[in-house]
Amino acid sequence: MKITVNGKQRTVDVEPDTPLLWVLRDELAMRGTKFGCGAGLCGACTVHMDGKAMRACVLPVSAVGDAEIRTIEGLSEDGSHPLQQAWADHNVPQCGYCQSGQIMSAAALLAVNAMPSDEEIDTAMAGNICRCGTYPRIRAAIRQAAE
Ligand code: FES
Repeated sequence: MKITVNGKQRTVDVEPDTPLLWVLRDELAMRGTKFGCGAGLCGACTVHMDGKAMRACVLPVSAVGDAEIRTIEGLSEDGSHPLQQAWADHNVPQCGYCQSGQIMSAAALLAVNAMPSDEEIDTAMAGNICRCGTYPRIRAAIRQAAE
């Protein structure tokens, strides 16, 4: 099966119903995308499919087709995406586990809404759970990146 990840076409030999998350992590050794709940509930596994935030743990690889998958590794060449810079400036992560998913959801939001309100940020980010409660810093970082 062929899929396009971060601009490169990759060939993977997996069952069609294999979740994209495991293709990324186990077949392509891209471990920035995290496993949290495995049920589409926590957002740790968020990637972009044609620019839209998707939960890779519940997305069968066969459903990807010709779509472009982007992971945290492909958000910028060198970690200098405005959101990544804002995350660093605000010291957002505590344990850090959920943060790649948080950033990918935030990036999908800013791609369609360059200057979101606090309410729009909260709505867009509601599906991304952080056990450390870094939500105020996440919101501040998104605001900074939007400026
Ligand atoms: Fe996919 Fe939780 S691991 S939503």
